[in-house]
Amino acid sequence: MKCPLFRRPAASICGLTFLAAFAWDGVATLADEKPQTVAAAPVGATALNFEDDVVPILQARCFKCHGDETRKASLDLRRKFTILKGGDGGPAIVPGKPEESPLYEMIQKREMPPKEEDPLDKTQIEVLRRWIAAGAQTKGAVEPPLEVADAEETVNPEDRKFWAFLPPVRPTVPAVKAADRVRTPIDAFLLAKLEEKGLGFNPDANPRTLLRRVYFDLTGLPPTAGQIDAFLADNRPGAYERLVDGLLASPQYGERWARHWLDVAGYADSDGYLEADRLRPEAWRYRDYVIRALNNDKPYDQFIREQVAGDELSDWRRAEELTPEMAEQLIATGFLRTASDPTYGGYRDKPECYKVMADTMQIIGSAFLGLTVQCARCHSHKSEPISQRDYYQMNAIFLASYDPDRWVVSLERAVPLATEGQQAKIAAYNAAVTARIATLNAEQTEWINRHRDKFLNEKLAAVPADLRDKVKAAVLLAADKRSDEQKQLVTAHAAGVVADDASLFNHFPELKAEIDKLKGAVAAETALVRNIVQLRSLADMDDKPSAAHVLRRGDFNNKGKTVEAAVPAVLAPADYKFQPQPGYKSTGRRKAFAEWLVDSRQPTTARVHMNRLWAHHFGRGIMETVDDFGHTGKFPSHPELLDWLATEFVAQHWSQKAMHRLMVTSTAYRQSSGHDAAKAAVDPENLLLWAKRPQRHAGEVLRDSMLALAGKLNPQMFGPPVPVTRQADGSVITADDAPGSRRSIYVIVRRSEQLTLLEAFDTPRMEINCPRRTEAIVATQALTMMNSPFIDVQARIFADRILQASADNQARIDFACNQAFTREPGAAERKSIGDFLESFVKLQLADKLATATPDERRAAEQAAWAHVAQTLLNTNEFLYVD
Ligand code: HEC
Ligand code: HEC
Repeated sequence: MKCPLFRRPAASICGLTFLAAFAWDGVATLADEKPQTVAAAPVGATALNFEDDVVPILQARCFKCHGDETRKASLDLRRKFTILKGGDGGPAIVPGKPEESPLYEMIQKREMPPKEEDPLDKTQIEVLRRWIAAGAQTKGAVEPPLEVADAEETVNPEDRKFWAFLPPVRPTVPAVKAADRVRTPIDAFLLAKLEEKGLGFNPDANPRTLLRRVYFDLTGLPPTAGQIDAFLADNRPGAYERLVDGLLASPQYGERWARHWLDVAGYADSDGYLEADRLRPEAWRYRDYVIRALNNDKPYDQFIREQVAGDELSDWRRAEELTPEMAEQLIATGFLRTASDPTYGGYRDKPECYKVMADTMQIIGSAFLGLTVQCARCHSHKSEPISQRDYYQMNAIFLASYDPDRWVVSLERAVPLATEGQQAKIAAYNAAVTARIATLNAEQTEWINRHRDKFLNEKLAAVPADLRDKVKAAVLLAADKRSDEQKQLVTAHAAGVVADDASLFNHFPELKAEIDKLKGAVAAETALVRNIVQLRSLADMDDKPSAAHVLRRGDFNNKGKTVEAAVPAVLAPADYKFQPQPGYKSTGRRKAFAEWLVDSRQPTTARVHMNRLWAHHFGRGIMETVDDFGHTGKFPSHPELLDWLATEFVAQHWSQKAMHRLMVTSTAYRQSSGHDAAKAAVDPENLLLWAKRPQRHAGEVLRDSMLALAGKLNPQMFGPPVPVTRQADGSVITADDAPGSRRSIYVIVRRSEQLTLLEAFDTPRMEINCPRRTEAIVATQALTMMNSPFIDVQARIFADRILQASADNQARIDFACNQAFTREPGAAERKSIGDFLESFVKLQLADKLATATPDERRAAEQAAWAHVAQTLLNTNEFLYVD
């Protein structure tokens, strides 16, 4: 049988998302696949063996009573030696003699499995008979002992020696020949390898190229004309370093880099799954948390603690009041709520619950461990020393919050943004408000009733006293509810009398005034009701988690051994013990997990993150498979550099900004991207980094830059997401207004639809998460750039800005080039743009050329410049950063 999830090359890149669709097919076939295989095998063939032929039958039909947790009649059927030992009634088989074997006898007589279960079919019975008859063979001479049977739990010392599973050790910075090119230790590590091959760095990029590079890299936006001038005018030493510090301190830095992290976290504003794709109204708070955390340079270790266990970092439930810090930490656990979640009221089937947990495990595995832990869900990992037991032990860390047996559906699963005390106070306060509202409503009813009575008495004064009550009762009934007698009474004595509110108000103006006053009071009270924000976050339900089991073959109907919460054994030193400290209504497991993730002996966290930053700055990870540091991943191109960065990260107190600064101030980063045939002959893929690698803009950067060029980018930060609309032509756009002109990070992330421009430029639709985006180059990109109404609009507005910049076309060309490319135009460009403008205007005005009014001339110029602007936006130079 083929693995439903084993599609190695695609697994690490997003955008190719057929994987998820297979996952549950896989599970569905797991439980019955093996027996079928057995059934299909030619039964008469040579000796059957226990592991391949017998276990599948016993596992499916007998283990639940004779193996795993229970041993009915003390009989354990999981090994041949335990079968020989037998149960309360003695050995279950006699090898070679089926007829004398109780096991065979009982299945043949349909005594086992017990009557309430389906009997074994003929083929299965025959397999067992033949196996016993042939001497009850096992595959090897020695059967594995029982303790390890369930999940191969042992990690041998050799497994721990793989480089990625050992904590990084700080290497010494190598000495190099071209010492003048060493600006940071990074350069020394890279140069050492380059020099081995007789290579060196390219010369530094020119200041404008570098300026453009670092602006896009750190803020996702192009420099403005003023910013270009300011940088070029700064001739004091350290100008570039000052620029970098300024960019890292700008709010745009957080917006740019939060997007990278949200890819890792798998952030979305919707729950996913087919058409429904329900919205997650509160998800954006987590997105804002990430932006703020990055802008404040929250140390990465704390960033992890908060996202993995923010609710366990303080005793917020019992605190006097929720401090801003507690609130922040609760919001941070939104990280654990990003997995798509199709469970809603009335729909909480087990497969979906388990899928939410499986996806969350995958996100954690790729974000912090750099390992495909998800592959150990159905079978122990085929290429890494991660057992199924490891998988379910790690899964157990989350079992007090994500528990399929006590499932809370997506929208109801929420953490109140208030302490228990505050919640009680608010509940009491709201109860008082509700009581006052009830009183006010009662008062209204009382006023109306009293006046209705008065009204009817006035109207019915002439009716004989003995009939009066009957007539009154009849009038108060709706016409179609009246009996024939009542109808007659009304016709005879009260024709035309209607006692509805409108008639009463007409009759008693003072009543109308009073009711309006009371209604006003109700509205005022209603406005006082206080709602508690319900965060899309995760918290333990209590400190009594359900028992955790290994799920055989990932099948929740096939529970195996119970397991304790723990971290993957191979990533922890042999003497490490996972020891959570339970707190109030919380197991402390996630906190212990977070502490382990940031422990100095933990091998993956710092490496994985440093490699991630590196991949964004340099266009390719030191470890190319950024989400897979295991045996199936590639080997790092510069392992010492990776370890140096990982240890430096910790030495810098996990400051991400410090590490960005280190990377972007290196010579490696500042060198030109110029091609060099001689160097390329030695290192054609530029693995050694002898030149800066040009990078294609992400969809978000393109959109934001175009808004910036048009001068329309709305800098408003934070808050609920900007909506999108689908056009008649199928394209998805934001509105052409102020909210619609906010940065892309604030645009709603739906799994079912996405801005067309972003989609064309590889912004992933979140299936699970996206540790690494594709960088496809396809025709739809050019088509989108040329035909998109969005780009059309931005080009026109950009053209208007160019026209306003100067009255002289040459100065305008300067301005346009500077804005779009951060450089001056070349002589040839000047000439060709100038010629185009002239001939276009001529063509446009035709025979009116001499007589055109200033308005007509301006319109022609505008049209010409709109074409130029559109063309500039369509160049490779605009799409790439050098
Ligand atoms: C639903 C639970 C259940 C399942 C499933 C089940 N058994 Fe049993 N089995 C029992 C119980 C209870 C006993 C003891 C009472 C009895 O003998 O009926 C037992 C007893 C036995 C014994 C006698 C053990 C002794 O030493 O007394 C054998 C042999 C046996 N089972 C074989 C099987 C085989 C083979 C299967 C699968 C094809 C199977 N059982 C499936 C519940 C189960
Ligand atoms: C949904 C359950 C499930 C998950 C998750 C899963 N597998 Fe499998 N895998 C299977 C089944 C079933 C088989 C076939 C039976 C067996 O060999 O145990 C299998 C077999 C394999 C095999 C051997 C046979 C083959 O197809 O070459 C490899 C290798 C493998 N899986 C790798 C992986 C990797 C890598 C991952 C993670 C990306 C993964 N598996 C995740 C269910 C799963």
